[in-house]
Amino acid sequence: MKWFNLSDNVNLLSIVGATIIVLAVLIVSLNAFKQMKNKREESELSEHSWDGIGEYKNPVPTGWAVMFVVLLVFAVWYFLAGYPLNKYSSIGEYNEEVAAHNAKYKEKYQTLDDESKLNVGKNLFFLHCAPCHGVQATGINGKAQDLTKWSSVAGILDVLANGSTGLGFGEMPAGLVEGDDAKAVATYVANGMQGEVGKDIFADNCASCHGDNGEGTEGVAPALNIYTKPDFIKMVLASGKIADSDASVKVIGAMPSFKAMLSEEQIDALSRYVSTLSKE
Ligand code: HEC
Ligand code: HEC
Repeated sequence: MKWFNLSDNVNLLSIVGATIIVLAVLIVSLNAFKQMKNKREESELSEHSWDGIGEYKNPVPTGWAVMFVVLLVFAVWYFLAGYPLNKYSSIGEYNEEVAAHNAKYKEKYQTLDDESKLNVGKNLFFLHCAPCHGVQATGINGKAQDLTKWSSVAGILDVLANGSTGLGFGEMPAGLVEGDDAKAVATYVANGMQGEVGKDIFADNCASCHGDNGEGTEGVAPALNIYTKPDFIKMVLASGKIADSDASVKVIGAMPSFKAMLSEEQIDALSRYVSTLSKE
């Protein structure tokens, strides 16, 4: 019998303790039953009487009163000087360990080469992003953004056709440009705003919100000169993508912010990895 191993001090102590408790309960309850049978109350009745139910004048037992005062003093001591405020705390120890681990992780991350950082990002993606975006990052049949398409020409054409909202800037309306113009400007943005194709269409239709060189306008629209790069993904991970309930453009769903959950290094690794997913 494993539990009855008395060479283990903790077991021994618990069993002795349990035996004492069982014996004490038995003795006290047998005594109480005996008193119920035999004992006649000798103390005086007070004048209070409610429908014939009276009340004895019993003084507070001395032992009880002393214990009551002692416990009050103990409670005050415990609250002010005792365990929780001044002494060891397991949460504190946990926080210290996490901080130490994070510092070590941070140092190690700095020394990694680019490929290892991509691998860190890939592993983090499976853990934190794949539940919504899928292991292949294709968005699990429309549950989340298809990241193999997002930020490519096809992805930008989707944005132009459907509009976009949820990053905290307000809404980009659907259908600003269509057809060949849309293709041209999508190519321009997907190429990191290089080249002549689509440049004039951007200036005419997009620059008013996104800035002449796609540098973005604070509070109005995000920067697009970094759209295909990790920096944009960092911004998305910080803000999350949650549309207002009265959004008038197509919304795929809600993505939480990862700012509080992931460290700077983890976000860096993830952003690098996600920026390699786009297939076009
Ligand atoms: C709870 C589900 C969920 C999780 C977890 C999640 N996402 Fe998303 N993500 C979404 C949804 C839904 C969208 C599309 C939102 C929309 O456009 O309406 C999205 C969109 C995106 C976009 C496109 C943003 C844009 O501006 O259109 C990127 C990039 C992205 N997610 C990356 C990630 C990364 C990296 C992770 C892991 C750290 C992650 N997501 C975790 C649900 C999720
Ligand atoms: C009325 C202002 C406005 C105009 C004009 C505008 N945009 Fe936007 N755009 C926005 C806003 C606001 C967002 C951020 C939407 C969000 O929160 O997802 C955005 C986001 C985007 C995104 C990123 C969507 C994503 O994946 O998160 C792309 C790409 C984009 N715009 C392209 C364009 C192009 C190309 C044009 C010109 C044809 C254009 N925009 C014109 C306001 C505008």
